[in-house]
Amino acid sequence: MSPRKFFVGGNWKMNGSKKEIEALVDTLKKGVQGDAVEVVVGCPAIYLQHTASILPSNIALSAQNCYKVSKGAFTGEISPAMIKDIGAPWVILGHSERRNVFGESDQLTADKVGHALSEGLKVIACIGEKLEEREAGKTEQVVLSQISALKPAIGQNWDKTVIAYEPVWAIGTGKTASPEQAQEVHAIIRDWLKNEVSSAVSESTRIIYGGSVTGANAKDLAKKPDIDGFLVGGASLKPEFVDICNSNA
Ligand code: G3P
Repeated sequence: MSPRKFFVGGNWKMNGSKKEIEALVDTLKKGVQGDAVEVVVGCPAIYLQHTASILPSNIALSAQNCYKVSKGAFTGEISPAMIKDIGAPWVILGHSERRNVFGESDQLTADKVGHALSEGLKVIACIGEKLEEREAGKTEQVVLSQISALKPAIGQNWDKTVIAYEPVWAIGTGKTASPEQAQEVHAIIRDWLKNEVSSAVSESTRIIYGGSVTGANAKDLAKKPDIDGFLVGGASLKPEFVDICNSNA
C-alpha cells in the first residue's frame, strides 16, 4: 500500500463552454465517490468561478497557469491571489504547452511556482522530455534539470507540490508511455528527491504521470510503485475520466 494518496488531475486545456462544463461536472458528481482519491480539475481561467460554484466538495479546482507576481501591468495574465480569491486551491505550472508553445523558461516556471506557493496555492508542477531528447538518451538529464530548477522555488513547500512527469511525445498523441517507461523515470525523480531534498519528501511527494492516459491504460500504469496518479488531458473531458479516477481501486 503506497504511503501517498492517489492523485488524479484533469487538465481541460482550452476546451469547454459553461454548458459543457456543467454536463461534465454532473458526470463527475455521479462517478467520483468519496475522497479516497484526490481529484482536481483544471479549467480555463474564464470558467474558474463558474466551475467553483458547481463542483462537489470532493473535487478540487485548479487554474492552468498564472503569472509570477500578485498584480500589475501584465495584460491578460491572472495572479495566484486572484485564483485563491475565486476559491481554487491549485494551479498547474510548467506545462509543456506553456514551455514549448508560449516559450516559458525553466526560470520563469520556477518564479511562477515560488510565487504561487508563497501566496498559498498548491502546485502541480510539470516536467518532461521531448521526443528528440528521449531518442538522444537525454531523458534523465532533461527531467532532472527541470526539477532542479524548481527546487529553490519550492523550498519547504514540497507538501503543497505534486510533480507531473509528462513526456512531451506522449501528450495528445495516443502514444502513451508504457508502464515500464513511466515507472523508470518516476523512480529517477523519486531518487533525486531522496538525494537532493530528503527521504521524507521523497516518500511523501506524489509523482503523477501525464500523456495519453485513458480509461483503458490507467489501471496498468497505476500498478507501478512510483506512479501516484495522473494528469489527464483529452480523456478528462470524457466520462472515462471517472474510470481513471477509480483506476487504483
Ligand atoms: O496535462 C495533461 C496533458 O498534457 C496530457 O494530455 O491529452 O495526452 O492526456 P493528454
